[in-house]
Amino acid sequence: MKNEADAFHLMHGSMFVMLQHYVESAYDHGTWVKLLEGAGVEHTSFQMQEMYPTHEIFAIVGRLGESTGQSIFNLMEQFGKFMVPDLMRMYSRYVRPEWRTYEMLIHTEDKMHAAVRREDSRTSPPKLIITKKGANQLVIEYKSKRRMAGVAVGIIKGISRYFNESDKVEVMLLSPADAERVQIKVDFLS
Ligand code: HEM
Repeated sequence: MKNEADAFHLMHGSMFVMLQHYVESAYDHGTWVKLLEGAGVEHTSFQMQEMYPTHEIFAIVGRLGESTGQSIFNLMEQFGKFMVPDLMRMYSRYVRPEWRTYEMLIHTEDKMHAAVRREDSRTSPPKLIITKKGANQLVIEYKSKRRMAGVAVGIIKGISRYFNESDKVEVMLLSPADAERVQIKVDFLS
């Protein structure tokens, strides 16, 4: 049984590989190399199947915030949005063809994060509690000691973009972004 501290201090290599893709796509490879140096990250590459300290993500994104003047929340959100096509590709076998944004969100915990945990017991995706509020609204409660609500909001927006539903899905944070437990309201406009 892994202990809780390890579980949230380490994160699956895929998240780091996707962060590198995000930085190289939004900026360039030189920026990525400078961020690693500035953040004091010693290794020069991340492997998909390894685990790395979560604080390296904050250190890298923190440096990017300093050099671009953007908030950490905003950068984390952009990163979350960017990673959705990769996530969908990596875990496509758990996605049913008829699903759209609403169904995808309803099933993230029981199908997607559950598959992540099952495929690699070292991972600890955040706990999501998803509540239907009437026919057109979901409230997603995100709970994680890693406090990455920006990424959560970005993934939700990225999922709506993936299904070409950005214009009818509204995402609103109901709690302070840096809390351990955060509520996110998602409205589906008809
Ligand atoms: C397409 C469906 C999804 C897949 C395949 C997926 C997969 C993953 C994976 C592989 C990780 C790394 C876990 C680890 O290393 O312990 C992760 C973390 C994370 N996921 Fe998901 N996820 C999905 C949907 C979502 C949604 C809808 C949200 C938003 C509420 C979300 C929020 C997060 C956050 C914020 C993290 C960072 C770690 C943390 O906060 O503790 N994910 N996810």
